[in-house]
Amino acid sequence: MKLNIAVLPGDGIGPEVMNEALKVTQAICHKFGHQLKTKEGIVGACAIDKLSDPYPLQTHQLCLESDAVLFGALGHPKYDNNPNMKIRPEQGLLRMRKELGLYGNIRPVMSFPSLIQKSPLKAEIVEGVDFVFIRELTGGIYFGEPQGRSEDGNTAYDTCIYTRKEIERILHLAYKFAKQRRKKVTVVDKSNIIATSRLWRQIAKEIASQYPDVETDYLLVDNAAMQIIQRPKTFDVLVTENMFGDILTDESAVITGSLGLLPSACIGEHTSLFEPIHGSYPEGAGKNIANPLAMILSVALMFEYAFKLKEEGQLIRDAVNASLEANIVTEDICDGEKAYATTEVGEWIVYWIQKQQ
Ligand code: IPM
Ligand code: MN
Repeated sequence: MKLNIAVLPGDGIGPEVMNEALKVTQAICHKFGHQLKTKEGIVGACAIDKLSDPYPLQTHQLCLESDAVLFGALGHPKYDNNPNMKIRPEQGLLRMRKELGLYGNIRPVMSFPSLIQKSPLKAEIVEGVDFVFIRELTGGIYFGEPQGRSEDGNTAYDTCIYTRKEIERILHLAYKFAKQRRKKVTVVDKSNIIATSRLWRQIAKEIASQYPDVETDYLLVDNAAMQIIQRPKTFDVLVTENMFGDILTDESAVITGSLGLLPSACIGEHTSLFEPIHGSYPEGAGKNIANPLAMILSVALMFEYAFKLKEEGQLIRDAVNASLEANIVTEDICDGEKAYATTEVGEWIVYWIQKQQ
């Protein structure tokens, strides 16, 4: 198969984890006889520095022409909390999602047997956790207008907007996943307080009745935050709006032991995009210490979702599991034992893939 992939390393540790992910992609393509073509684009702070635009048109065109996009991370402290900066790297990510129509963010949360002891939660709570978050990605308060400040600078406002169409399509996506899994959907909202959530709940009830073989639960977001930690095993598919999904998926990452382990897929109207859920970790940039596993697992999701190549995805997951079992891990999950470098973890995984029959 011919794989045309747009590669957007981004900022901070993005380029370092991307390098390892690309080595793994090459190893898999070599093993299974796929023809790989990659083309690099810029997004985020590096794109502001070069072109004064966090998501330049040329990057957008590159994404549209590709079969899949691999994205690392973006953000740089020099743009943080500076009210004089009108352009911010994060706008690049939001625009990229919006302009590519990537409305569905799939974030699987699974416990890794060899890391159970490293989770801050008790082993019996963490063992066997296997759920997937479906986060709405192009609506809600991150995009709503107006957003801004009053003239005197002392009042600020954001707007949360959701339309029926946006809510319906993400719910259908959640039910599609649930039908392939354990047939349970949990809808997370704050319908006791906010209007957009009341619309979510109303539409969720309508859509639930179209999927009688799937069980539907409704949870308020504050309660959900607690239950995810208390009884993570009981969830199958959780579906929620943009901001709640952003927050709850970072929380969920703790279950697995590190934010450096969670991959994600963004799917929608055009090319799908695959990215780790962690950020650009600027303090760790250039030190060869970042955990490349979330990015490598994002490559596994790319093989499965964008190219329907299940075996390739599974081999990557097996390789990651093997590296965890062999304790070839970066400092975020090394637990006082020897910490390996980003490149060492990537190279070990490539070697493991090469030696499989
Ligand atoms: C994420 C990130 C982004 C988000 C930021 C960097 C815009 O936190 O992918 O979860 O909030 O969506
Ligand atoms: Mn986030």
